[in-house]
Amino acid sequence: MIERDIEPSMVAKQIEGHASSLKNLRHSLTEMYRAIPKAELRNRKETAERVAINHSQTKNSLRDMLNISGTVLRNKLEEAQEAGVIGTHFEYGGGHRFFHDDVLKFMDWFGVPKFSDQFEPTVLAISTHKGGVAKSTVVATLASGLALDVRMRPRVLVVDLDPQGTVSSANIDTSQVDPNAIQLTALDLVLGDLERHHSSEKINRPDADYNIVMDDYLLDGITEDEAFVEIVKNTPMPTHLSNYDVLAGFPSDERLTDKYGVLSDEEQEQLLLRFSQKIIPILKEEYDIIIIDTPPQDSIYSWMAIDSADGLLVPTSASRYDISSTTNYLDSISKRLPYFPSGDGHFKFYRMILTNYNPANRIHEESRRHLLQVSKGLLMTKHMPHSPLFSLAAEANVTVHDFIQKDVLDRRLMSSKVFNDTMGQVNDWVSEIKDLIYTFCGKDTH
Ligand SMILES: Nc1ncnc2c1ncn2[C@@H]1O[C@H](COP(=O)(O)OP(=O)(O)OP(=O)(O)O)[C@@H](O)[C@H]1O
Ligand SMILES: [Mg+2]
Repeated sequence: MIERDIEPSMVAKQIEGHASSLKNLRHSLTEMYRAIPKAELRNRKETAERVAINHSQTKNSLRDMLNISGTVLRNKLEEAQEAGVIGTHFEYGGGHRFFHDDVLKFMDWFGVPKFSDQFEPTVLAISTHKGGVAKSTVVATLASGLALDVRMRPRVLVVDLDPQGTVSSANIDTSQVDPNAIQLTALDLVLGDLERHHSSEKINRPDADYNIVMDDYLLDGITEDEAFVEIVKNTPMPTHLSNYDVLAGFPSDERLTDKYGVLSDEEQEQLLLRFSQKIIPILKEEYDIIIIDTPPQDSIYSWMAIDSADGLLVPTSASRYDISSTTNYLDSISKRLPYFPSGDGHFKFYRMILTNYNPANRIHEESRRHLLQVSKGLLMTKHMPHSPLFSLAAEANVTVHDFIQKDVLDRRLMSSKVFNDTMGQVNDWVSEIKDLIYTFCGKDTH
């Protein structure tokens, strides 16, 4: 098939909706909802249903996954339905299917070991000082790829520490968010204590959203520490997958940069520790895999991520220039790690990822070989392929995992070969990350 010019808006139309564009969600969700015409809301609902169908499973795939006979599966499904564990199947494409959420519940009920039965909660920081090298794409693709593994069934959280809020604006499902509630960000939680109690007017902010929310919780007569735990647990927002949430980032998080410079050394350290030693442990009670997106800087935002991580993933494009500056970055981080407030004892692995990589491109291939030479075993074997599917996904505010082949073939947006090659490479790459988790984060490895 001849490649046609991509028309992202067509696919965007097809599957938009479950994750509408919400660039300024924080203060304008109510207005945004009011502004959406009814027909559009209906359209969004329909398209969200289409994505849900893409992620549903047939009875045959369930049978294969569980390695049981069709009769046993049928009986077990009936039992689970009668017990109210799962909903009823739906019919689509001539077969019986179950939604992702029901499949997760069924696997639990069936007794297939959960992530938390086998692995420690795992924090992955995605960080590099370079801009535009697919950090956020890596984060969102990894999050949905892991959440869709119904055997592993991790509860996945993306913490968006980037004030650009790329993953937040793409993946949060606004239809499930209370438009009247105050939406806190990860950085609100980090700054909360300072903005509530600091003696300096430059830092103290009685009108901060965190303070309003905290005051509300305190009305219940609980302590501030107890309220903090509740606030942290309730701040993540849902996405279209029931086992994938996002702790949002919004442009107002930029204020950390100003405040940080005013703090004493001790207060700066306390701020880092508040994230890695107070917030992350609470989140680890609720989530199995926490993936942290960071802005393109070597700054407090990425230090917080690094100070709490089990694994650091550093994306680089396949250009010599990017590679040398990225290896320098990794070098510099590893030298500074012992001096981070949490030290380097929590670190289990770091890896570099080639992003936007095209194996057929001679320069890319030469760069990859060069990177293998200089990175001394730190380069992931699999890569994130360069593909038009990523642009389509970005345009539609979804991840590449939300498409099925039919979505792109029906509209002749790319050939089945391009689609299958992309998803094959992406899935291989996600599998390599899973292998890192299996290797370093298993409960019996300690
Ligand atoms: N593998 C890929 N193939 C094609 N396009 C890609 C690929 N990965 C990312 N892109 C596109 O490149 C652009 C930058 O990606 P992304 O926002 O993930 O980078 P980033 O490193 O997070 O940027 P920033 O430094 O601004 O945070 C986006 O438009 C994205 O859709
Ligand atoms: Mg980004």
